[in-house]
Amino acid sequence: MSGPEERWICLRKPVADCIDKSGSFLDIGCANGYLLECCQKWNSPKNIIIEPYGIDISSKLVELAKNRLPQNKDNFIVGNAFYWIPSKRFDFVRTELVYVPAEYEKQYIEFLLENYINPGGKLLVANYVEDHPHPENTIILGSHPTKNILSRLAELGFEVTEYKDGFDTAKNRKTRVAVLIR
Ligand SMILES: C[S@@+](CC[C@H](N)C(=O)[O-])C[C@H]1O[C@@H](n2cnc3c(N)ncnc32)[C@H](O)[C@@H]1O
Repeated sequence: MSGPEERWICLRKPVADCIDKSGSFLDIGCANGYLLECCQKWNSPKNIIIEPYGIDISSKLVELAKNRLPQNKDNFIVGNAFYWIPSKRFDFVRTELVYVPAEYEKQYIEFLLENYINPGGKLLVANYVEDHPHPENTIILGSHPTKNILSRLAELGFEVTEYKDGFDTAKNRKTRVAVLIR
């Protein structure tokens, strides 16, 4: 996303707020690793230590993430989370539904719960266009234009245990991060 740091904090801190204990955290679509770095920073005053992992389909972005977090550079891989099966599972995993075509969302979530999450671990499903009047204008063609992540996950048959919200009043944007427990 672009914009000032306060906007980033309002719209991304809800991800960190879903991480309620120390453990491994995989950011699917980690881009340049900034969210992972911020989650470490935001949660360290709570004595929550995050071991960061990332996957992204862009090799250039994964390179930036490795440079940002050099001590964890072996934790970053280039891949498509719809196919990639990790060699270990994680305590916390973040994704968005828009990473797969609408008709594969259910299959994608089931795949992540089965292959990515430790027993008792949490899948954080972020919607960065929550309550947006025209989500279809913000996403890749073929993704589902989700206005309400809780309704969408219920429609797909998943039970959300908790969620965290963030607001950017300047641009009237809202983030909602829904949590599914394995
Ligand atoms: C909006 S950025 C998210 C950056 C950061 N994680 C955040 O939450 O702000 C989305 C990233 O997801 C990556 N991406 C999209 N589909 C993906 C997939 N199926 N597997 C892995 N990465 C994917 C894109 O390359 C892009 O860097």
